[in-house]
Amino acid sequence: MRIDIISANPEILESTITNGLISRAVKKGLLEVLLHNLRDHAEGNYRQIDDEPYGGGSGMILKPEPFFRCIELLQGERKYDDIIYFSPQGKIFNQKAANRYSLKNNFILICGHYKGIDERVIERFVTKEISIGEYVISCGDIAAIIFTDALARLIPGVLNDSESALTDTFQTTEMFDPPQYTRPEIFADMSVPEILLSGNHSEIQKWREKKSEEKLNKYTEINFRNKKDKF
Ligand SMILES: C[S@@+](CC[C@H](N)C(=O)[O-])C[C@H]1O[C@@H](n2cnc3c(N)ncnc32)[C@H](O)[C@@H]1O
Repeated sequence: MRIDIISANPEILESTITNGLISRAVKKGLLEVLLHNLRDHAEGNYRQIDDEPYGGGSGMILKPEPFFRCIELLQGERKYDDIIYFSPQGKIFNQKAANRYSLKNNFILICGHYKGIDERVIERFVTKEISIGEYVISCGDIAAIIFTDALARLIPGVLNDSESALTDTFQTTEMFDPPQYTRPEIFADMSVPEILLSGNHSEIQKWREKKSEEKLNKYTEINFRNKKDKF
């Protein structure tokens, strides 16, 4: 898989790409992540990438020309499955979407900043608008990291134990990941549930199913209440 990320702040992305899971995927040759600094595609001595909004109003807008130049350059080199713009107004990203996108070959990710990007970039190039949730963050780079990480861990061979991703919360609609414990057996006056120490695998499985259902019910209740909250 190849992911090209166009950003006004590539420094935000650099540390994530050179550390942790994404860098492991890159080192194993299972993922390529290319950062494109928007400023490198801007013109003039000042390489200006933003300007005031037409019609007035607060905040700066990322100009269209650097995006057009960068995207056209990339599209001249290869065909992309999707060109994604991260936006609070997009379709909310979830595990199902991550699973689906993880089967594709390549993407261009567009990260907005300030008040957003010139609408003509979206009109001309964007095939999907993705939101990471119903709140506003300062830049699309954070969303790009979330998207890239969620996909990277699904690429076969990236996680040492590939089954781990398949048993995670949201991978099925019926089950959440159950509570997990590791050593020490007693910590801060709290003990690991005895059943997990019993060695009885069928009883452990039953316990895990019961606990994961309880967690799912709790999640459904919290989030149902959340949905009823007014904005
Ligand atoms: C401060 S936000 C701009 C918000 C925009 N003025 C609005 O109200 O819709 C700057 C950038 O952060 C990114 N962003 C903010 N919230 C996001 C979210 N929930 N999901 C994905 N990207 C988001 C987008 O790329 C956006 O262009």
